[in-house]
Amino acid sequence: MSGTYRIVENARLDARNTFGVPAVAPMLVEVADVAALPELFGYAMLRDGPVLVLGGGSNLLFAGDLPGAALSLTAQRIETIEDDGNIAIVRADAGVVWHDFVLWTLGHGLCGLENLSLIPGTVGAAPIQNIGAYGVEVRDHIHAVKAFDRRNGGFVRFDAADCAFAYRDSLFKHDPERYIVTAVEFALSRTPALKLDYAGIGEELQAMGIDGTPRASQVAEAVIRIRQRKLPDPALLGNAGSFFKNPIVPMAQAEALFADNAKMPMFRGSSDDTRKLSAAWLIDQCGWKGHREGDAGVSDAHALVLVNHGQATGAQLLDLARRIAASVQQRFGVAIEPEPRIIGATW
Ligand code: EPU
Repeated sequence: MSGTYRIVENARLDARNTFGVPAVAPMLVEVADVAALPELFGYAMLRDGPVLVLGGGSNLLFAGDLPGAALSLTAQRIETIEDDGNIAIVRADAGVVWHDFVLWTLGHGLCGLENLSLIPGTVGAAPIQNIGAYGVEVRDHIHAVKAFDRRNGGFVRFDAADCAFAYRDSLFKHDPERYIVTAVEFALSRTPALKLDYAGIGEELQAMGIDGTPRASQVAEAVIRIRQRKLPDPALLGNAGSFFKNPIVPMAQAEALFADNAKMPMFRGSSDDTRKLSAAWLIDQCGWKGHREGDAGVSDAHALVLVNHGQATGAQLLDLARRIAASVQQRFGVAIEPEPRIIGATW
């Protein structure tokens, strides 16, 4: 199978996680053709031990070294597999960089992913946590997900309806050791159905001098401008985007909090009797924005983003995150939970 995969022993993963924290994997397997997966998972270390699939490393916190192998899928194909002139089904390999894929779709006149511009990570990671931004979730445009099932050593294909998608959640997240997402199929339209109602998008389009109905590529540009202003660039300052999920609480609890905090942002939750609160606002109110301890800190641009100013370790960032969550719990009685996957420790 030479040529389809490459094995590196004692691989440093510092440059493969966007926090830029140090970590070593006893073995890193770079797979160019997923057809090699059944053979690779015949070897004891992969078959029997924990395996971490590395995408862009943008949704991970390494609290220590890896207990088992890391796997990186490097294939980069994008192809249109069906096209009726309006709706196209486009298939992309897991290893394609997410934002490159968004630009490819817009460049081919296909709409739907524009609000998800500039999200770090890969296509393969997108369905796992159902990435979302500016009023759109990726599940809205996923047609199917292909994965390798470690339990039976074969490939499976899930229709979108079978992926158990929810806010920052999916079937693949529930059982991270079982499925390795190998490719995703998207259903995209040539007829734009733009979502412009999320706070900030309309204002940004105006600031860009766009009157009337924008093109999808202009919405993408507006999203890129907002993200660049609000979220630190991981290439310049280590971070993993939002470190906490927005908590979903019973409506009565949200209303009691709102009675004491008239400026508290509140959105519809997963159902009518729940509300989604803003973790950023809760953390901000507790005074953490811009806080720094050594090289571990909270962004001064967005309270939801933990940052590594240089030499922070994952353990230090995790310790800071736990204290932030404890202070939100103490002041507001609300539990906030991390969004990134934590490796080497439990929350
Ligand atoms: N806010 C503060 N302080 C801050 C930042 C925000 O009080 O420092 C308040 C503001 O009132 C604001 C509200 O929080 O109106 C919401 O802020 P924002 O619009 O930035 O959205 P978010 O809920 O903090 C979510 C996603 C982001 C996504 C944005 C835009 C989660 C966990 N995060 O953030 O996703 O880009 O909406 O749609 O759902 C990510 O997942 O890594 C991520 C960056």
